[in-house]
Amino acid sequence: MKKAVFEDFDGYDHIIKEIEYSRKFGVDYTREQSMPERFINRLHPPRLSLRLADMMEETPSAKTFRLVPDEGDLPPFLAGQYISLSVEVGGILTSRPYSISSPPNQAGFWDITVRRVPSGLVSNYLLDHVKKGEIFQSSGPCGNFYHNPLFHDKEMVLIAGGAGVTPFVSMIREITECGLDRHVHLFFGSRTLEDAPFHHELISLSARFNNIQYIPVIEDPPPDYKGAAGVITGKLIKEKLGDPSGKTFYLCGPQGLYDSCIPELKGLNVPERKIRREVYGAPVAVSACPGWPQEIGVDQAFSINVKGRGSIPARAGEPVITSLEKAGLTLKALCRSGECSMCRVRVVSGRVFQPGGVPVRKSDTQFGYVHACVSYPLEDLEIEI
Ligand code: FES
Repeated sequence: MKKAVFEDFDGYDHIIKEIEYSRKFGVDYTREQSMPERFINRLHPPRLSLRLADMMEETPSAKTFRLVPDEGDLPPFLAGQYISLSVEVGGILTSRPYSISSPPNQAGFWDITVRRVPSGLVSNYLLDHVKKGEIFQSSGPCGNFYHNPLFHDKEMVLIAGGAGVTPFVSMIREITECGLDRHVHLFFGSRTLEDAPFHHELISLSARFNNIQYIPVIEDPPPDYKGAAGVITGKLIKEKLGDPSGKTFYLCGPQGLYDSCIPELKGLNVPERKIRREVYGAPVAVSACPGWPQEIGVDQAFSINVKGRGSIPARAGEPVITSLEKAGLTLKALCRSGECSMCRVRVVSGRVFQPGGVPVRKSDTQFGYVHACVSYPLEDLEIEI
């Protein structure tokens, strides 16, 4: 019989002897086979059952939801990461990513903060309808928006807009509670003071810790307000920071924040590699994105033929993933921002619009794959899911 190639590997005889002895003396190694998988699943569970233990009002338009494991323990996470919460609203099973605002050193629960969004299907459902004790299915913690001491500076400049402050609250809580050797400057843009979640906690932390500088920037401040007013500008950043070199910049908030702050940072000669931005959902107004074909209205109706599942209605201004969910076809999804690739579908025929900056792999483009969470039909489509 021909010799198997692995018989030449170093240690082959030793392993064979070990197996012979194990069989002879009753050690059952097959029981150990799933150990690494069980260990990895404990650290990075693909799905989790979470129970809503409490709800705290942060502002008139935002609440913090405290989630505890329905069974077992919560896996570890890094400050800045998010979970993808599955929610059924009006018979539609969908999901949304929410950054964890509690710090990683606190292992008993995760806090997420939900803000009301005009016509926001999930946020408004969570704020108005869910009750304590409700069980949610969730992903494990995910995302790359965290501080990595190997690559990122100890001096962190955090720039937030609205609910985009939540990952930064987790980072700041961890730094202050664990005494980490990092220095934070947080610029927090909010329309009003009353609408700025965590404002009082951030004021208090910046008063107690020399390494935390908090700069709220209020668009519509009260008449006697003495802090920074308007929007976050390069001039304000320079005034508060001095020299921007030797610092890593983290941005989290709506698209308008990126559109205005990234050019301002570049104007201060902050290199691209020092600017990190969190994904923040699909664009609110896709037809305002550069490259949108102006002859197509967002309400234009199309159909999507899903191979093997039949035809479903779609709308130009609605991401393909949403049309699928409305038809009862739920895709795997985490970020809903075009970053994680979980929602890839193959476009067999028809054109879709994908906003600039969506990181699609070259091979995906070559074989017609798109991210359904940030792809919009521009004509009738045929897709494979
Ligand atoms: S859900 Fe992450 S790319 Fe679509």
